[in-house]
Amino acid sequence: MTVEKTDQKSVLLETRGITKEFSGVRVLDDISISIRAGEIMGLIGENGAGKSTLIKIISGIYQPTAGSLQLDGKQVEVPDFITAKRLGIAIVPQEFNLINTLSVYENIYLGNEIRKKSGLLDKNRMREKAAEQLAELKMPIDVNLLISELSVAEKQLVEISKALLLDARILIMDEPTTTLTGHEIVILFTLMRNLKRKGVTLIFVSHKLQEIIAICDRVTVLRDGSLISVDNAADVDEHDIARKMIGRDFQQVFPQKKIRGTDDIILEAEGLSSGKMVKDISFNLRRGEILGFAGLVGAGRTETAEAVMGLRPLEAGKLTYNGKKVAIKNPRDAVRLGIGYLSEDRQGKGIVQNFNIPQNVSLISLKRYLKGVLIDKRAELEKSTQYVKKFNIAAASQKMALRFLSGGNQQKVYLARWVDTDPRILILDEPTRGIDVNAKREIYDFIHSLAASGISCIVISSEMEEVIGLCSRVYVMREGKVTGCLEGKQITEEEIMFHATGIKGQVS
Ligand SMILES: Nc1ncnc2c1ncn2[C@@H]1O[C@H](COP(=O)(O)OP(=O)(O)OP(=O)(O)O)[C@@H](O)[C@H]1O
Ligand SMILES: [Mg+2]
Repeated sequence: MTVEKTDQKSVLLETRGITKEFSGVRVLDDISISIRAGEIMGLIGENGAGKSTLIKIISGIYQPTAGSLQLDGKQVEVPDFITAKRLGIAIVPQEFNLINTLSVYENIYLGNEIRKKSGLLDKNRMREKAAEQLAELKMPIDVNLLISELSVAEKQLVEISKALLLDARILIMDEPTTTLTGHEIVILFTLMRNLKRKGVTLIFVSHKLQEIIAICDRVTVLRDGSLISVDNAADVDEHDIARKMIGRDFQQVFPQKKIRGTDDIILEAEGLSSGKMVKDISFNLRRGEILGFAGLVGAGRTETAEAVMGLRPLEAGKLTYNGKKVAIKNPRDAVRLGIGYLSEDRQGKGIVQNFNIPQNVSLISLKRYLKGVLIDKRAELEKSTQYVKKFNIAAASQKMALRFLSGGNQQKVYLARWVDTDPRILILDEPTRGIDVNAKREIYDFIHSLAASGISCIVISSEMEEVIGLCSRVYVMREGKVTGCLEGKQITEEEIMFHATGIKGQVS
């Protein structure tokens, strides 16, 4: 035991005065931290605080402007990702690095292909091993499927498998739980604890304060590119961490009062059916209400939203909008009616990585910015500047391509795009994915103000508190069906779990 204790204290990796500038803008300032062998170090901070940049430097993706890295007490150069890999450093990136047109197993083995003696690829062996790896994550994904056929949660698990394959000494995970829900997070944490037991050192980034406290030994807080603190996780609580992150006291995440909306029904769905995930779904939405859709992953909530938006063909069912029957055949029809849909898959179905902020904002509302055949760039920029202010989007310039924005800030731009279509109904699928705790509060307030101005919002969320804290009515789904509609005081964790699982008294 004593041996283990001294081991725990030995420093494996040290960042010394790491500073990073992009075109003269400093995003990391003199960061010195020591990471001990075999610990789980949490890394937390607001959107744009510099978390991803720091771990990209550790894993050779970026080079520091100043400062150095020490591994095992010796200075090391990590000029690229391959060198990091050789040094035993692997990363699960925040934005997926998967090739859509390749299969799951091909992605897992990309760059590490197993070959036969003849030099040819040993596809069978790669398939087998990839399947084993995913089985360890308790995720029976068919390894022959293309990445494009996977859900975001599945893509995340493929990224994790890819990193695990490297048998790293240091495994860095950048917000791995953002796209996962309760059950999958429990599996991931078990896996992390097993890795730790084997002596692997982990760096774990998350915006979920509870998670950080639950899984980490220590926690590092960054704010605006500076190091604020390194604490034992046992010595801090959620409030302490939040305070350090934002630099002032922080208590309330949800708006004080719930918004109920009016009695008139703006949208009514009757008996919608589409494939296996949408079976005879009926619901109604009132004007100016915030309506929740809860359920476990795979319950069919996203598919239902996609069916409403005309992203999936309806096999049966009827939609009534403002008292009139409507046929929505494609998303354009939906947008024309004033229905917007913020997808849960920001990276796959949302933002355009190479477009800048104004271009991403005006993507759907572009018509408004046309002057003849030309885009009125000034008007576009003006509008986009308003959103940057409204949502506190951290970016050095509007001209930045979206891929250079931090994950949470990309999410805010994506939200701005849908708000800019001036919707009457806005469907928000996991709207605060990757958003820090303070910005969450701002987004909740914003959804609240949308509803107060008469816009009807549907919030699909796997975060129980989000549904409970925000919605006045909640539909719960299980296996493609609506299993309950809860209102007011009925909206509790127990009730939601009961309808989501069919089991009484189960709270995850
Ligand atoms: N390649 C780049 N070029 C220019 N600026 C960049 C680049 N990469 C990151 N930045 C900027 O550095 C800052 C820190 O970004 P980073 O991605 O490290 O934040 P983060 O803490 O990971 O935030 P989030 O929680 O939103 O993921 C941001 O302002 C971002 O726009
Ligand atoms: Mg990040």
